[in-house]
Amino acid sequence: MSTPPPRYASWTHGKLPLPELAELKRRDEKIVMVTAYDAPSARIADAAGVDLILVGDSAAMVLLGYDSTVPASMDEMSMLTAAVVRGAKRPIVVADMPFGSFQISDEQALEHAVRFVKEAGADAVKLEGAGPSLSRVRAIVDAGIPVMGHIGLTPQSATALGGFKAQGRTAAQARKLVDDANALQAAGCFALVLEAVPAAVAAEVTRQLSIPTIGIGAGADCDGQVLVWHDLLGLYEGRSPRFVKRYAQVGEEIKRALERYAEEVRTGRFPEEQHTYAMPDEELREFTAEVTAQP
Ligand code: KIV
Repeated sequence: MSTPPPRYASWTHGKLPLPELAELKRRDEKIVMVTAYDAPSARIADAAGVDLILVGDSAAMVLLGYDSTVPASMDEMSMLTAAVVRGAKRPIVVADMPFGSFQISDEQALEHAVRFVKEAGADAVKLEGAGPSLSRVRAIVDAGIPVMGHIGLTPQSATALGGFKAQGRTAAQARKLVDDANALQAAGCFALVLEAVPAAVAAEVTRQLSIPTIGIGAGADCDGQVLVWHDLLGLYEGRSPRFVKRYAQVGEEIKRALERYAEEVRTGRFPEEQHTYAMPDEELREFTAEVTAQP
């Protein structure tokens, strides 16, 4: 048996136990989350040692080519989640509940959360907002499904928030964020995403909560960080927000590879002998005789 990494208090082979996240917060060790939308990416994230994979509805923009996250459907998100689950063994897989899948009622929210767990194999779900989302969180948690909250810039309601811009920049808005965070913890969330909020506000939320905060554009004092796969790797053509750090330019690398491929196809340098199949001489002779005998 391999030596357990010292990072986790209760090492088990296989899935990272959910309570480890609170333990990491308690020990002041940072939590790493990344989005992913397919099995190979999930395998790479797993091998790189990330703690959580979020199958974000950002898929609508970075993967499916929409202008916002709103059009993502349950069918699309469920298919992507199932692919990620097949690729990720250790990280906790969180399925993002798309717009329209939880807004109508607690029953509707629970039905879709159950679908993510039962059909797609998700370990947990995430949903945006506080206010009306609180009773959704309670309904889903009561059914035994872990829920991650998400406040600050909530892209599904970007229009109502006045666009994709930072939230909680007045004292009153900051107080509301702190109240919402506490309410989501009380409703049963196991963790909370804080998106595009001032670092000072995120730090105060993180100090007040016992559940971990996962920041994106929320400063260094959150208990963990999340970035969108395509932003982090340089795969997204659109304009990235200021909080994105690019760790690679994979899109450029892919483009260079495709240009070389196209050039080699057009000049006849690909495929080479090593890329083709031969047939036994005797069979080839018979085949050639047959086709040349035809009128
Ligand atoms: O959809 C998503 O990728 C998200 C993250 C940005 C937190 O919600």
